[in-house]
Amino acid sequence: MIGKICGTGSCVPKGLWDNQKLMELVDTSDEWVRERTGVARRHIAENGETTASLAAEAALTALQNGGIRAEQVDLIITATVSPGDLMPNVSCQVQKKIGALNATCFDLNAACTGFLFALNTAQAYLARGIYQTALVIGAEILSDLTNWKDRSTCILFGDGAGAVVLRAGETGKYAQVTYSTGEKGNVLTCACRNQKRYAAGADAPETYMQMDGREVFRFAVSRVPEAIEELLKKEEMHIEQIAYFILHQANERIVRSVVKRLGANPDKFPMNMEEYGNTSSASIPILLNELNRKGMLRRGEYIVLSGFGAGLSYGASLMEW
Ligand code: COA
Repeated sequence: MIGKICGTGSCVPKGLWDNQKLMELVDTSDEWVRERTGVARRHIAENGETTASLAAEAALTALQNGGIRAEQVDLIITATVSPGDLMPNVSCQVQKKIGALNATCFDLNAACTGFLFALNTAQAYLARGIYQTALVIGAEILSDLTNWKDRSTCILFGDGAGAVVLRAGETGKYAQVTYSTGEKGNVLTCACRNQKRYAAGADAPETYMQMDGREVFRFAVSRVPEAIEELLKKEEMHIEQIAYFILHQANERIVRSVVKRLGANPDKFPMNMEEYGNTSSASIPILLNELNRKGMLRRGEYIVLSGFGAGLSYGASLMEW
């Protein structure tokens, strides 16, 4: 059995912070941020919005889009690095909010590659016939983990959630490659915001996201195209056969560099980081939902999803729409 996406959804907070707003917080400029990252605005959670509330809203719109009732869902996996609460997990909170009484629910953390790892996990359950209908969600409130005094990181990130509904069927295609490179873990970190750390000072820099931006950049522009090429070779497919490459929306320059290294058609690499910034595990499903809602995805066509992030980790998935 293979899981096919039958519905997509997303939800972003109402609060909108443009680059001008960041200029009130750090020494930066709209021009610098747009040119170096491609980001113009990011949505920021306010007024009680939580990772679980965004995730549940994205899940509901995905179910609606797929014509699936909440009781039909057997499995909910949420990829997140910013669950808000450690217990109960975000997926159980989503279950409660949407009434998915029959679902088994757990979260998974593979940072910005998290949605791909969650998709792979759901596909494995479906392939074994254990479950038939799965909700795969990426949801983040990164603004909680962002050091708003650090101009080298705060310009990049935003909050949001995206979700897909997978239904098991006899036909379709799903293939993936994933890698983890633990020895590079120190390049992108965020120490747990627990009591011990608070004792050291709630504002200790290590309790916020810290990053060697150049190193992450170098990693992404070499590993992402490698993963895509490996996947296509493994599946004996050519780049021309892919309708869209839906890449993690970290930085416009990274996406453009991947296009160049692959020698691909840039029109096949949609981008939306201008509007949302990097929403970590939510970025791929938010973009996927936008393409779906615009009617750009056609049944029978192939898409590739690819991401990278803390760990460090990276991967790519090929699927028939
Ligand atoms: N505004 C203005 N200037 C800034 C700035 C900001 N927000 N942040 C850094 N600068 C300055 C630096 O201080 C430096 O100045 P200097 O030359 O006088 O020392 C200069 O701009 C260049 O800094 P550098 O860090 O080399 O910039 P960069 O071109 O590498 O861009 C990132 C920085 C973070 C945008 C880029 O490295 C990046 O996107 N990396 C990948 C990060 C990522 O995707 N992380 C998430 C992974 S999931």
